[in-house]
Amino acid sequence: MSIIADDEHIENPNTSVGKNPVVKPEIDDNDKSFELNIRPKNFDSYIGQSALKSTLKITIEAAKKREKTLDHLLFYGPPGLGKTTLAGVIANEMGVPIKITSAPALERPRDIIGILMSLEEGQILFIDEIHRLNKVAEEILYPAMEDFYLDMTTGKSQTVKTLRVPLPKFTLIGATTKAGELSGPLRDRFGIIHRLEFYTNDELSQIIKRTADILDIKIDSKGAAAIARRSRGTPRIANRLIKRVSDYAIVKYDGVINETVANESLDILKIDEFGLDTTDRNLLKLIIEKYDGGPVGIETIAAAIGEDSRTIEDVCEPFLLQCGLLQRTPRGRKVSPETYRHLGYKIQSSSQQSLF
Ligand code: ADE
Repeated sequence: MSIIADDEHIENPNTSVGKNPVVKPEIDDNDKSFELNIRPKNFDSYIGQSALKSTLKITIEAAKKREKTLDHLLFYGPPGLGKTTLAGVIANEMGVPIKITSAPALERPRDIIGILMSLEEGQILFIDEIHRLNKVAEEILYPAMEDFYLDMTTGKSQTVKTLRVPLPKFTLIGATTKAGELSGPLRDRFGIIHRLEFYTNDELSQIIKRTADILDIKIDSKGAAAIARRSRGTPRIANRLIKRVSDYAIVKYDGVINETVANESLDILKIDEFGLDTTDRNLLKLIIEKYDGGPVGIETIAAAIGEDSRTIEDVCEPFLLQCGLLQRTPRGRKVSPETYRHLGYKIQSSSQQSLF
């Protein structure tokens, strides 16, 4: 077989536009304050995740009617899909305060004990990246989640005493991008476990229009759809792209985002029609050009493109797998015929099927 790419081969990731974190879904400090401002506060303004929303609405209404706290909830799925936002919506709909933290901030026993003892009755405790909780913190959480108490020990060796400290009834909302890494006992203590799905282009268009409205950015429907198509099913990316495209619209045009403005500025950012950036394309091109389409191990890919294998697994892969450009097999990663087409390779083989 021979393969021919119709433009450049593996791209240089070291140019300023080449290494492009704008379509990566992890949160950074810029996103944090921005997301706080545009975050929907209730179910009516929260777009998408309709199956999950329906379940939650019923659970919340039932909890309110019974005058009980909400069951503990676990949300999992790729980053940037709105797990924290949803926790805020739930707190708002329940009419209770929310405390937001993440597992790496709960390293010492006193961190988790302190936060549990500071909770008010009915309050929501949101723990992001909950799969990173250490064993000791998990052990402290079990009785807190199940029966709302803490076992504290005082004294040393022979004089050690266990003190049972009651806690207010609270709801734990855990979020993780790696449900498989959660320990069984912790997972079992959640009443509701739900996966957040990638958003459709239509849902992303609605989110883009809503954000543009809040930020006073002028955008038409085709402009919103063009940004949506390149947002990898992820609101965090869509919201980031609006700002970049808006800057371009102001500098190069009259400030209004239409389809041409959106496509032009996203082309300049080297974000293609699937929302892939240089790193994604390099990863796929490497598998095609150096490994004949795969399968090839993740560590080999990581070393070859100069990325951390965890970053590839957590950040690049979920969307590539979802849109069928990458496949995970027991022998490593491989690409699909669609990948060849998308990247402009012509497959010169009598039997294309046998290649995959
Ligand atoms: N911004 C980020 N996620 C959103 C969502 N699901 N609905 C509305 N606005 C959002």
